[in-house]
Amino acid sequence: MRVIRVATEADMGKEGAAIIADGMRMKPHFVLGLATGSTPVPVYKELIRLHKEEGLDFSTTLTFNLDGSIGLPPTHEQSYRCFMNTELFDSVNINKANTHVPDGLAEDIEGHCLTYEMMIEDVGGIDCQVLGIGRNGHIAFNEPGSSLASRTRALDLTQDTIDANSRFFDSIDEVPKRAITMGIGTILEAGSLLLFATGASKATAVKAALEGPVSVSCPASALQLHPDVTCIITEDAASGLTLNFRS
Ligand code: GLP
Repeated sequence: MRVIRVATEADMGKEGAAIIADGMRMKPHFVLGLATGSTPVPVYKELIRLHKEEGLDFSTTLTFNLDGSIGLPPTHEQSYRCFMNTELFDSVNINKANTHVPDGLAEDIEGHCLTYEMMIEDVGGIDCQVLGIGRNGHIAFNEPGSSLASRTRALDLTQDTIDANSRFFDSIDEVPKRAITMGIGTILEAGSLLLFATGASKATAVKAALEGPVSVSCPASALQLHPDVTCIITEDAASGLTLNFRS
């Protein structure tokens, strides 16, 4: 595992976007796994800058988002589709038909999850998967207790995640309680993983993920099983780390 400690969120964005851009330049039809949440926003900002100022081309890029809330239409401003359009897709030359976000309004959720997995497989798998981390160590919406072999599925969110997401909604009643998420097994099949973490509130989860035992109690600890992981972490989120990692 490689750990890059950075001073600011802007630095994190630059480091992360540079890795993604290298991959996109090397492989046409690059398959990029994307995450929502506030953490990756500086990465998307920098990707937009690279597109506008340095001509980074998204025209053949394919994307798959990690997760989506059940019950929110794609037009809802807190839906992950809307988030991705606003934070990245609307500002680059990506073909939206090549972008995929789990559909929380699908009639047959189980069938949709299977199809999502098959679509990833059909394009040859995800080349690089962007990840954030929840305060309780979750990745995507794989809450503690999720099997490390889990696949894309629907599940109930924990109260901690519902509380954390409530900042985006007017009242707690509006916060989705269920979501579709790629599984940990699905995520571990990506060619490379890019984990981003910022803020002191993530320090405990980051330490457990990188230095703790690989355990379902910290889903992000499964990253230790992957051969190509880069973690880009601001100093406050990395403050609990004691081991020396490659940088
Ligand atoms: C949600 C998302 C995760 C994300 C997490 C942290 O639960 N499903 O993919 O990593 O929030 O969000 P933030 O980056 O806003 O702290």
